[in-house]
Amino acid sequence: MTKAWPDREPEFARILEARLSRRQALGLGAVATSLAALGSIGRAVAETRGPSTLTFQEVEHGADATDHVARGYRADVVIRWGDPLLPGAAPFDPANLTAESQARQFGYNNDFAAFMPLPWGSKNSSHGLLCVNHEYTVPQLMWPGIKGREGSEGLSQAQVGVEMAAHGHSVVELRKTGGRWAVVPNSQYARRITTSGTEMRVAGPAAGDARMRTTADPSGTRIIGTTNNCSGGVTPWGTVLFAEENFPFYFGGKPSSQAEAAAYKRYGFSEKSRYSWWEYDSRFDLSKEPNEPNRFGWMVEYDPYDPASVPVKRTALGRFRHEGAGTALTPDGRAVIYMGDDQAFEYFYRFVSSKRVDLKDRAANRDVLDDGTLSVARFEENGVVRWLPLVWGQGPLTPANGFQSQADVTIEARRAADLVGATGMDRPEDADVDPATGRIYAVFTNNCQRTADNADPRKRPDPANPRPVNRFGHIIELTPPAGTGGAPDNGAEFYSWDIFLLAGDPRRADVGARYNPGVSENGWLACPDNVAFDPKGRLWIATDQGDNWLRSGSMDGLYGCDVAGPGRALTRFFYRVPAGAEMCGPCFTPDGRTLFVCVQHPSEDVDASVPLLYEKPPTRWPDFKPGMPPRPAVVVITKNDGGEIGS
Ligand code: FEO
Ligand code: CA
Ligand code: CA
Repeated sequence: MTKAWPDREPEFARILEARLSRRQALGLGAVATSLAALGSIGRAVAETRGPSTLTFQEVEHGADATDHVARGYRADVVIRWGDPLLPGAAPFDPANLTAESQARQFGYNNDFAAFMPLPWGSKNSSHGLLCVNHEYTVPQLMWPGIKGREGSEGLSQAQVGVEMAAHGHSVVELRKTGGRWAVVPNSQYARRITTSGTEMRVAGPAAGDARMRTTADPSGTRIIGTTNNCSGGVTPWGTVLFAEENFPFYFGGKPSSQAEAAAYKRYGFSEKSRYSWWEYDSRFDLSKEPNEPNRFGWMVEYDPYDPASVPVKRTALGRFRHEGAGTALTPDGRAVIYMGDDQAFEYFYRFVSSKRVDLKDRAANRDVLDDGTLSVARFEENGVVRWLPLVWGQGPLTPANGFQSQADVTIEARRAADLVGATGMDRPEDADVDPATGRIYAVFTNNCQRTADNADPRKRPDPANPRPVNRFGHIIELTPPAGTGGAPDNGAEFYSWDIFLLAGDPRRADVGARYNPGVSENGWLACPDNVAFDPKGRLWIATDQGDNWLRSGSMDGLYGCDVAGPGRALTRFFYRVPAGAEMCGPCFTPDGRTLFVCVQHPSEDVDASVPLLYEKPPTRWPDFKPGMPPRPAVVVITKNDGGEIGS
């Protein structure tokens, strides 16, 4: 198990001192100056009131059938579900969805988006590749007559084929001409990655392991497809990472009666599959292919600049319900990736590569993510976070506890993290790194299941997850210590942490929210999910409330704020999604004058007591044509005067 704190006192004191100096430098008010006063740390949000460097006129909280952007900006759909993407793709025909058509069209439920300038290494802000995840499908809004509100039980084989082809990822070449963005037709880069049609390689410690082998792949090194791709990230060498999140939902076949039942349980498998896939494809049937789930739940890397590149499941990064990836480099040039596992009481992870990254030779980095140290975070109550390594043979990660190799540690990363004493968090979502400071902003979306007297100490409120009923989520700021030359040493064992904000309505005492006191009646947010920095170092926060919007009173959207100075944590409301949608994937062009956002599942998240009907959706955004279903879409936002986003 982990060492006791007194062993680490000198390191601890150094982190603490750096932490206090930073807080003084930021002008955040009175700070503790002794170990005895540490109880106050972790509770501080900005104590000064505005103004923000973001000067746009805020959108109002509310809910209606369409989207809204701050005055002086325009928001245009640039691509939507079913739009032709690959050469020869059929036009979208909602009355005749086929797997063949869908595999050449833009997929469903766009979540993560990354703008990759063309060519790689340039700061081109008018031509690039938009790399987009397609997380899941909503069959009730894709076909008439689908029963139930959640999942896709009872679909036909043809419908399942469409679903599999609608999942995954898209590469879309975009160009701005005359101030307007459009998809480049017949692009050499255009690509669809799907659950059913894209072969991937497995690399890292679990590649070839016996638990990775199936009937279709006795080598345990080749996998067809990916699923539930939520958020992602971009590496410093210009590849894209996409996360495999809620993979357990896709499997059926009595998990509790299989040899891997305990592992399935730890990953949240249910006896009843949310999808029909296992009825038609035996690899999703646990009774036939008990190892197939071990081949999902990874972080996948691919090169968008090479349309023939084979995506690689990077097993060194651990297997869990991967949400996304925040990336950085250590002062000596090794890759660092921060990753959340999105379920209540799950953990926040870090991977640090062994090899240094070569920014001059992209090809030299093809195996960088296959060897390194995966760690998990323990948030101590004194404002220090400790990274606990998940290394086979160390501490409890031994054969005595069922770990025969590093493959077992990565395949069962959750159980390994349990044993080393990680802090269970309020649903870890996305994380991003401030490129100017190296600080990490980690998002925890909500969790209402903590109780003060819970028998499991992980499930009691703690300083990093202070609200027992955390309906609206929070954001934690992690600060690595200064390394050689003053650069953030994000390979260090200890960081410091602060609560950046506690979300929800700050005017309601029972919510317990905390922001910059200058936040307006429209500027507070609920259930943060995806985050991104703009080129000026402001943090943009996308929300995903599910049906919590019925409590907050506003649909999801995008909020921006400073992370330092008087506007720290002064969130301001910039863009609001249409009824029933979720806000995802904010990303900027390098000049900060274009913002791409993803509007996921319009019409889905409305009153759960009302049946979700294809014939009567709450909105038909963005087409608003009779017979045309609501369509998840990527929206491009520009300022009418061509200025920077946020001004
Ligand atoms: Fe797909 Fe955790 O959001
Ligand atoms: Ca998410
Ligand atoms: Ca989400």
